[in-house]
Amino acid sequence: MNGVPGGEFLDWPVLLEAAEAAARATTGRGRVADYIPALATADPEAFGMAVATVEGELHGVGDWQRPFSVQSVSKLFSLALAVAYGGDTLWQGVGREPSGNPFNSLVQLETEHGIPRNPFINAGALVVTDRLHTMTGDASGAVREFLRRESGNPLLDTDPVVAASEAEHGHRNAALAHFIASHGNLENPVETVLEHYYAHCAVATSCRDLVLAGSFLARYGVRADGTRLLSRSETKRINAVLLTCGTYDAAGEFAFRVGLPGKSGVGGGILAILPGRAAVCAWGPRLDQAGNSVAAVAALDTLTTLSGCSVF
Ligand code: DON
Repeated sequence: MNGVPGGEFLDWPVLLEAAEAAARATTGRGRVADYIPALATADPEAFGMAVATVEGELHGVGDWQRPFSVQSVSKLFSLALAVAYGGDTLWQGVGREPSGNPFNSLVQLETEHGIPRNPFINAGALVVTDRLHTMTGDASGAVREFLRRESGNPLLDTDPVVAASEAEHGHRNAALAHFIASHGNLENPVETVLEHYYAHCAVATSCRDLVLAGSFLARYGVRADGTRLLSRSETKRINAVLLTCGTYDAAGEFAFRVGLPGKSGVGGGILAILPGRAAVCAWGPRLDQAGNSVAAVAALDTLTTLSGCSVF
């Protein structure tokens, strides 16, 4: 049981069970990502979900400790670190408006002079990785170290097979990076930015790791060890961009159904934040057309609908 403002009590195990049932009912819908061939081997029927509350409770159901490829969920962490280390300067090179286009689209970059719409489409995440690399000298290492520290999982690491598969089939990302560089919006060589971007997307993680690592957003910017990563206002802003852009051209539908800031990845994970209360992660490898997990959206929809907890 978890006390929440207003005196409500949430029975997380019961909520997670109901969410899992809703996720299992989506069996057969959606497709496992195969444009990165190493991801195509994921078990389509796997499902897990976990919650970590700000009071320190941790609950999980199904495959909540089973590793999967973090993919674009890592963009949340690279953004948080880039803002923590660099402050507002980041926003000179990347916008914060929904794109209304697929995550790997090239179309807006031409008319918008190499400034990506937001930090979560691939183009924007490349710029964030670039700036984080300038600030730390090791962008993917900074993301990995943060994930390890917050989750308490020292074994968390990049899967080299997935990273190599991404690089081998990364024509669109390479095109995006070169286009951004042609507009003078990368500080590091294209090859370096791509290497670090693939390395943080290819981290193998689990629902358990991600709820612990994402809890700083539920704690208004405070890390697991009690130190502050982000100010309250920076945290508000990151949660706002998660809500409006975190699930790409389905962000409106995600807000409608789930009502939480959240970040999806083509590995099938979605990490969502209940500010002041908890971080929740659901995972199922089958994706809808926007690249969001069908099972994870159904599970999160059920959780917020049954509990009445959302940001709205
Ligand atoms: O660059 C890519 O295409 C992948 N590494 C990440 C894309 C992704 O996860 C989109 N999210 N749903």
